[in-house]
Amino acid sequence: MSANKKMLVLAGDGIGPETMAQVMRVVDWFDKRRAVRFDVIERKVGGAAYDAYGTPLTDETLADALAADAVLFGAVGGPKWDDLPFEVRPERGLLRLRKEMDLYANLRPAIVFPAMAEASSLKQELVEGLDMMIVRELTGGIYFGEPRGIETLPDGSRRGINTQVYTTPEIRRVARVAFELARKRGGKVCSVEKSNVMESGQLWREEVQKLGAEEYPDIELKHMYADNCAMQLVREPKQFDVIVTDNLFGDLLSDCAAMLTGSLGMLPSASLGDIDDNGFRRGLYEPVHGSAPDIAGKDMANPLATLLSFAMLLRYSFDLGEDADLIELAVKNVLAGGMRTADIMQPRKARVSTSVMGDSLLMELDKQGA
Ligand code: IPM
Ligand code: MG
Repeated sequence: MSANKKMLVLAGDGIGPETMAQVMRVVDWFDKRRAVRFDVIERKVGGAAYDAYGTPLTDETLADALAADAVLFGAVGGPKWDDLPFEVRPERGLLRLRKEMDLYANLRPAIVFPAMAEASSLKQELVEGLDMMIVRELTGGIYFGEPRGIETLPDGSRRGINTQVYTTPEIRRVARVAFELARKRGGKVCSVEKSNVMESGQLWREEVQKLGAEEYPDIELKHMYADNCAMQLVREPKQFDVIVTDNLFGDLLSDCAAMLTGSLGMLPSASLGDIDDNGFRRGLYEPVHGSAPDIAGKDMANPLATLLSFAMLLRYSFDLGEDADLIELAVKNVLAGGMRTADIMQPRKARVSTSVMGDSLLMELDKQGA
């Protein structure tokens, strides 16, 4: 018997706590019904942590994250904290976790569930069967580059500065994740940058090209400028298998890809670090959507993205593919049965609350047995 899995749960702000509450019911189901056992620790993060401790991420919580087998994250931020100084804004908590845990590879799948194809803003035939993965670099680039800041110039005007910077190892390690994923998927990688205007993009292209030629000749590698990629995503998304790109372009393109699927409320993500000598890999799992303060506390939010993030956690951190499959199948069946939260509501479907969606998922899991 393997030891209990230590899972740190950070529900955060806005709809984070209410969606996480439903996922915790599913965690409990797995704990009781399947082979895996969890030790769950829950902590505050983001605005909730700021209100309690004056910082969006305490050193203790960071230590808990570093000691955990995996971290499940909800969402952070909201208007209540918008006027805080930059260093203590809720988002800084998440960014510090990513950086300190060295989670450099952010996997953002964009999958269209059969029942949801007609909910896309694109024509159904363009998105039906879509299954792509964006691998976003997560600990470098303009999000963390130095120098940064806002300075006052001698004439009294101000200047804001951020720096886009990448090194060879940073590019190669995230590209390697993309190539490896492509091997298990459709065998295609599209590397995205702006090498026509940025030196960091030129280096990006050269390094990815070199790595592909040296170690992944079996993978079909293409390069694309980021603006063209945005256009291609809405023109013909099914041309993509794995996209690999930097932190900022990945932020933009993954929102765009997410919307193709019919709802941001459906998409999970995994942020992974390197595999250490014992085969352990740090991972943080979170929905792509944010904290949606406008609907928070109304039992309206869609818990599926957080639930599917838990499925990714089972798959990537604990190698429990079959258990992850169970969750993904339950989600598929619940959607096929007509259940919809408000964000994905369609004509002639049953509009349900966050908690009723949770009930239906548990019923579905019970049906599949243990
Ligand atoms: C995301 C979010 C974050 C980011 C914010 C909340 C800091 O937009 O995960 O895509 O920009 O990375
Ligand atoms: Mg984003």
